[in-house]
Amino acid sequence: MQIVMAASECVPFAKTGGLADVVGALPRELVKLGHKVTVYLPLYARVRPMIAENQRTAVESITIPFRYYNRFVGIVDGGARDGVQFYFIDCPELYDRPDLYGPNGGEYLDNAARFGLYCRAVLEATKLLGVPDIFHVHDWQAALIPVYLRTVYASDPMFRRAGVVLTLHNAAYQGKFPPVTTEQLLFPWDLFTMDKVEQYDRFNFLKGGVVFSDMLTTVSRRYAEEIQTPEFGEQLEDVLHNRAPDLRGILNGVDYAQWDPAVDRNLAAHYTLDDLKGKRACRADLLHAFGLEHVTETASVIGIVSRFVTQKGFDMVSRISEELAARDVAVAALGSGEPIYENFFRDWAFRHPASVAVRVGYDDALSHKIEAGADIFLMPSRYEPCGLNQIYSLKYGTVPVVRATGGLDDTIEEWDAAQGTGTGFKFHGYEPHDLLAAIDRALAAFKDQDGWTKLMRNGMARNYAWSGPAREYAEVYKEVVRRRG
Ligand code: ADP
Ligand code: GLC
Repeated sequence: MQIVMAASECVPFAKTGGLADVVGALPRELVKLGHKVTVYLPLYARVRPMIAENQRTAVESITIPFRYYNRFVGIVDGGARDGVQFYFIDCPELYDRPDLYGPNGGEYLDNAARFGLYCRAVLEATKLLGVPDIFHVHDWQAALIPVYLRTVYASDPMFRRAGVVLTLHNAAYQGKFPPVTTEQLLFPWDLFTMDKVEQYDRFNFLKGGVVFSDMLTTVSRRYAEEIQTPEFGEQLEDVLHNRAPDLRGILNGVDYAQWDPAVDRNLAAHYTLDDLKGKRACRADLLHAFGLEHVTETASVIGIVSRFVTQKGFDMVSRISEELAARDVAVAALGSGEPIYENFFRDWAFRHPASVAVRVGYDDALSHKIEAGADIFLMPSRYEPCGLNQIYSLKYGTVPVVRATGGLDDTIEEWDAAQGTGTGFKFHGYEPHDLLAAIDRALAAFKDQDGWTKLMRNGMARNYAWSGPAREYAEVYKEVVRRRG
């Protein structure tokens, strides 16, 4: 089958979160299953030097019409990697900027045009470079592809058989813009109704994608259920519930070529389930990197790697921060995002310089060192569609403490010391004392060396390779092709 993947992020080119990891890994796995996969990405400023060496112009100019003007985009052939073909949409006036979405975690004012153009350019490019059986589009930035396909391109004979699968990685990011976006992107006004792209008087990219795609997926079974409820649906719960028969939850996999302590090139030492010795060196290396060399042997090192946004539950952490710092722990946190959380971590570290340290920023190598060097990984998310860091943590023998929501609930099983079963610690409510109680269970377990080693090994033995989820996606594609007949 021929598949086009459309997304705004993909490792190694452009990443702000887990979406990039997924779009970097899934296509390769589909190729292994015998499919032909092409990935289309915007040509951001940061991508240009990465493809400078072997880039080739695939299409010199495609006209993308706007209301009173045209834009002209080039398609740059980024070559094939592991059998996956990469094309980049070149439109310097929209993408040649320092950030993917906006400065300091914010939004560029023309994001509707930036990603509207992206969607239309992908469709136009495929008419010249190959129309696939399936467009697999990810999140709001690519969600207008099905909307264009089934409206202004509906009678294009080249697209008659093409199916669309939309994956929702996070229902909270919808791409909401003023009503006038409808005509700015050259859609007819009859599209701006509550059963199509309108949501409370906003033009809503993600809603359009949900309405017009053949099938929908999201990144864990639990989240597929959650988004049909008011608590997690972000006001799209009714539309999503209507489409429940076409919605599947497929848990993300892990790219073990990148995330395995036996081969990870960012670590001070390697280790495996059978030989854990190297993890001590990784812990020392991590403490050194964070200036926490004086932390004692008995302390549990708690690691955090995250976007600092409300989703991730750090408001709860701030409420227990003093109590937690009084325990026998050290905290090594890496992240960036909203100033309120960046400032909380800075302030916490300032108050406890010997045991709490934070690095505000984005640092891939350091994120691997934290996965390897910490004893406990903390992810108290308010909601979590899948979550990758807790799954990475399992492989690194770093015990996750998580809130039981979305993919966190699907992947982590509570430790039972008597039976020797389980992989981590979970709490259910959204109350600071529930979080602290889960951390305390972990700290108590840490004191029992043998039990803790068993707990680490239970997690390390779990396998979340992409081969399983890739087969599930292939089934979804087949179903869509069957339906479009
Ligand atoms: P989300 O996509 O909601 O951010 P995930 O757990 O799915 O959450 O994925 C987050 C990914 O982004 C992981 O690969 C994680 O290591 C990475 N990441 C997040 N923040 C940082 C950071 N500050 N520096 C390096 N990597 C980060
Ligand atoms: C989103 C979600 C995260 C998920 C990732 C990849 O960013 O917040 O939970 O793991 O997408 O699917």
